[in-house]
Amino acid sequence: MISQDIETVLLTEEQIEKRCVELAKQIEDDYNKEGEVPIVVGLLRGSVPFMAELIKRFTFPCEIDFMSVSSYDGTESIGDVKIDKDMDLSSKERAILLVEDIVDTGRTLSEVKKMFINKGATNVKIVALLDKPSRRVVDIHADYIGFEVPNEFVVGYGLDYNQKYRNLPYIGILKREIYE
Ligand code: XMP
Ligand code: MG
Repeated sequence: MISQDIETVLLTEEQIEKRCVELAKQIEDDYNKEGEVPIVVGLLRGSVPFMAELIKRFTFPCEIDFMSVSSYDGTESIGDVKIDKDMDLSSKERAILLVEDIVDTGRTLSEVKKMFINKGATNVKIVALLDKPSRRVVDIHADYIGFEVPNEFVVGYGLDYNQKYRNLPYIGILKREIYE
């Protein structure tokens, strides 16, 4: 059972769902005002459960797509990201809502946002389930944030350690013995 590897549950499934209802409402109000049909773009793979939870609550028209990016250099991201899998739809002259699991240093979202603007997107907004502000090195503004988390390695609800634990329905802190 993967739940045995969890030290502390930080956010329960109920807390996450409740917050997703609030976020979806806030996002919906903004897009209704703007009258654009955005492309909701999930960054694979961490955003999948969060994105599913959000989009089923949107009542405005939107399209969805996915892309996968990674930093050029192993463990610590170095500010340059490469596209491993690009989205299928064109972002030219489109409003984009980027969906991410967590904003850590901020490098990934900062680079991806720049990429979209260079490709001619008219408007790029960001929604992230989690924010770890203590780790920020790039000044990136996420338009919508689910929860702030402390500087701990968290897994579940899309977030992984070595590709595991993404399927946990809650967010927890991993036991140290698992990664030490
Ligand atoms: P940056 O630093 O560019 O990176 O904001 C964000 C990416 O780093 C990963 N990340 C985590 N993944 N638990 C995870 O499972 C964490 O606590 C964590 N902190 C950062 C994540 O892939 C995110 O997309
Ligand atoms: Mg990620």
